[in-house]
Amino acid sequence: MFDLEQYIQEKCKAVDAHLDSILPPEDLVPIELHRAMRYSVFPGGKRLRPVICLAAAEAVAGDGSNAMMSALALELLHTYTLIHDDLPCMDDDDLRRGKASSHKVFGEATAVLAGDALQALAFECIGRADSHSSSAGTLTLELASAAGSMGVVGGQVEDLASEDATPDRTVLERIHSRKTAALFVAAARMGGITAGASGAVLEGLTAYGRSVGRVFQLVDDILNVTSSTEELGKAVGNDAAKGKMTA
Ligand code: IPE
Ligand code: IPE
Ligand code: MG
Ligand code: MG
Repeated sequence: MFDLEQYIQEKCKAVDAHLDSILPPEDLVPIELHRAMRYSVFPGGKRLRPVICLAAAEAVAGDGSNAMMSALALELLHTYTLIHDDLPCMDDDDLRRGKASSHKVFGEATAVLAGDALQALAFECIGRADSHSSSAGTLTLELASAAGSMGVVGGQVEDLASEDATPDRTVLERIHSRKTAALFVAAARMGGITAGASGAVLEGLTAYGRSVGRVFQLVDDILNVTSSTEELGKAVGNDAAKGKMTA
């Protein structure tokens, strides 16, 4: 019988090994920056976006090997968003992935720059010759649109602007779609693209990514009320304290 947990574990192991080989070593100048980049990537979180990317490729072509560079790109970009999300000028959170947030360890400037460098490395992954070269341009467009002003960054802007605002379902759904679901959509679609998915299949993967991404943020919002710091490895109760517009 198919064992989902084992499947995810195997994918995470492969993703981690590739992340380790792609990230600059800690003893390379600027040492503090490279330390900060690795600090946030390892040991990492659930690695859901790369797993979805690899699984989408397998679902389309039975083989996810062409999707690995996209999977790495998604996790690197996601990690950058977490570093910036925790900054004092954003959610001001001191704990991430079970340890001190980047800016608490390296200072704000290095944390900002480590995030910047992780985002650049994400696009470098896609541009590398050993990514599925015929689709590198398409993959770049997918990741850029998920990351940019109509995606994660746009969602983050509206998330911050909506603190203490009267809850509004349309606004909330747009925030969730952009700050979170956009990257899940990119994960599913990029996996499909590396496997040569047709337009109709890509539409299916888009719908899947959007649904999973939105429910994922709904659950993240709820866990901020019902779960514990020990379980999540990040602060709880802070959404209400900040007047966040959440599910
Ligand atoms: C946290 O994402 C940010 C949200 C979109 C809610 P994850 O819950 O996937 O974080 P990690 O990667 O497992 O730490
Ligand atoms: C999730 O933001 C989306 C991004 C990090 C871009 P949240 O602020 O809701 O996520 P957590 O709860 O800090 O992980
Ligand atoms: Mg936030
Ligand atoms: Mg946050």
